[in-house]
Amino acid sequence: MICLGIESTCDETSIAVITDRFEILSNVIYSQADLHSRFGGVFPELAAREHLEKITPCYLEALQKANVRPEEIDLIAVAYGPGLIGSIQIGLTFAKTLALSLNIPFVAVNHIHAHLVAPFLENKGAMDLFGAIGIVISGGHTQINWMETPLDVETIGSTIDDAMGECFDKCAKICDLPYPGGPHVEKLASKGDLSKVFLKSCRVKEAPLSFSFSGLKTQVLYAKKNPLYQIEDICASFQHVVFKDLYQKALLAVEKFQAKAVFFGGGVASSRSLRAYFKDFPCPVFFPSKELALDNGAMIATLGLLQYKKLGPSPLDIEPKTRIPFPHLTEKRDSLELKQVTTTAV
Ligand code: KG4
Ligand code: ZN
Repeated sequence: MICLGIESTCDETSIAVITDRFEILSNVIYSQADLHSRFGGVFPELAAREHLEKITPCYLEALQKANVRPEEIDLIAVAYGPGLIGSIQIGLTFAKTLALSLNIPFVAVNHIHAHLVAPFLENKGAMDLFGAIGIVISGGHTQINWMETPLDVETIGSTIDDAMGECFDKCAKICDLPYPGGPHVEKLASKGDLSKVFLKSCRVKEAPLSFSFSGLKTQVLYAKKNPLYQIEDICASFQHVVFKDLYQKALLAVEKFQAKAVFFGGGVASSRSLRAYFKDFPCPVFFPSKELALDNGAMIATLGLLQYKKLGPSPLDIEPKTRIPFPHLTEKRDSLELKQVTTTAV
């Protein structure tokens, strides 16, 4: 079976062709990062217009690189949210039109969920390691999930304010670094001394697997105003605090759920420095390569195939959504429910 995956939820137009053995035949990504960098964040109307301009060339290039003709495609998968409605609409309408014209099934998937299955494309054995903990750390989302199976997913922790990537972007902005800030912060952090600037992570009271980053952002703002501090040292301390916090929460989740593995997805998961933190983690940890960690069509096609085989096609009148529940929900685990939203510095 050949599946075409379409991604347009934020600032990447991406189309991939994969087989049902999860082999990537092509994964074309048109990034809009340069277009938005002068605004310090994604400009929604510009993003939608750019998707409209790039989606057809992206499709043609994906077919050409995969050496596949339109008639050979068996399934169209597309992300229908969460994300920017105007941007999602471009990919979703393109996907529906293709499915109708080729007379093939169409499946609409959750973009965040797709980040969690991206590691399967590079590690086929990873699929045998369930139940697992799936962690999405991107510009828009920060979530810890219990994955009973690849499709049976339940969120057990998330951010109560900024997403982790957003926090990297805001830290970068305060330090006068370009957007998207994560890679710039990582580069400067590698030259800095984390012991020179003291920053603290925040804990969410009675929700040990949840995150809060707004307090850290304020600490960075004050550190930047201190003439004694170097930008490199601020970045090193900031990155350390965020990744140490993530490590501790991942460990807690693995212990509570007796997980067999941890799967990472989302832009922040492309950080080389993050991998170093998890070097001696007590269970296998899977990080996708940069191309599969950032928004891409291959992860959409992967989830599309899994979802289609288990739950069938999606209705053609499906609309873009900003919140999408995971397809299968296991029973709630009361002890881990997010009950409080008070934060305390630790
Ligand atoms: O998954 P993604 O491409 O888009 C969303 O769905 O949000 O993630 C983009 C985010 C940006 O916030 C960017 O700053 C962050 O991922 N990022 C990083 C690194 N590379 C990208 N954050 C920290 N370190 C990095 N090396
Ligand atoms: Zn994403």
